[in-house]
Amino acid sequence: MNTPSPELKKVVAEADDFLPLLGTDHIELYCGNAKQSAYYYMAAWGFQPLAFCGLETGVRDRVSYVLRQDKITLVLTSPLVADGPINDHINRHGDGVKAIALWVDDAKKSWEETTSRGAVSVLEPTKRSDEAGNVVLSGIKTYGDTVHTFVERKNYDGIFMPGYQPWSPVHVSEPLGLQFVDHMVGNVGWGEMNTWTEFYARVMGFAQLISFDDKDISTEYTALMSKVMSNGNGRIKFPINEPAKGRKKSQIEEYIDFYQGAGVQHIALATSNIIETVTALRDRGIEFLKVPSSYYDTVLDRVGSIDEDLAPLRDLGILIDRDEEGYLLQIFTKPVVDRPTMFFEIIQRKGAKSFGKGNFKALFEAIEREQESRGTL
Ligand code: FE2
Repeated sequence: MNTPSPELKKVVAEADDFLPLLGTDHIELYCGNAKQSAYYYMAAWGFQPLAFCGLETGVRDRVSYVLRQDKITLVLTSPLVADGPINDHINRHGDGVKAIALWVDDAKKSWEETTSRGAVSVLEPTKRSDEAGNVVLSGIKTYGDTVHTFVERKNYDGIFMPGYQPWSPVHVSEPLGLQFVDHMVGNVGWGEMNTWTEFYARVMGFAQLISFDDKDISTEYTALMSKVMSNGNGRIKFPINEPAKGRKKSQIEEYIDFYQGAGVQHIALATSNIIETVTALRDRGIEFLKVPSSYYDTVLDRVGSIDEDLAPLRDLGILIDRDEEGYLLQIFTKPVVDRPTMFFEIIQRKGAKSFGKGNFKALFEAIEREQESRGTL
């Protein structure tokens, strides 16, 4: 772990850590065909198969595949029945993130601390046991139909959690160097950003790291606003975006239209070698947003010298930004689901703790070109 920056230290001091979070436990996506999504995340993204639950494990209404790459765990869930909450979620939102599960030491206390501060419960503390021990789960609502699950696994040494069995499909691909969840961004509706940043502050003890208004994040045509919320130890960072008025439709509004409400916009995954990781992803068919090659004509004037050669960054379309503490390299995929909703960011931090503000304009112009092609600008 790097030494905390002065800014982060301030956040830690401000954050009232009644809810110590150890990290992101897993991300659960509800999807139309979990078996095929699992193949996609394994074959294209280098995730490794870990565990499974479904008919063969006595679960009758759903199937879940658990995939892992280093510290990133994805759970892909589809319904096995015609009607139910998973079906409703997919019908309304398309494929998307249902649960951002947070790893805690005490799931009961996490639930009590948050619900007593106004969180709406979706799961009272529940212990699940098998021969490998027990896991305690609890859950609360956040924006839209998204939830936070608290996962306490200190008394468990099985592969994932009780109810799952190991899954070893024939096909296994190589990991691509994705290491951990750097941050996860939520899109919320008009006028709702402060509601949700206040939720993270009041209910979960987070502090605000950065704020961008529509003057920071706008192009000639479109705009958005954003605030970054961080928990006390800085391991969990949730930027929250709200659309802002521009001459044309904000990318956040496009998301809200197609997702039918607030939800997770992007998941940023960290790598220690973005050139290798993105090269491998591209070779496996992952499509990334492209900025004009003129971006690279002046980028080093803006960010100063960097360790990497510019040529592979330019070839892959990787963006560069610098703050007081260092620089970062980042790239964004096109939406990875049918609707123009969820996408991924790949990020390599070389000291920088920020989120790429210097790239916003070039990036949003690239997104506008995509919106234009979808008829949603
Ligand atoms: Fe991001």
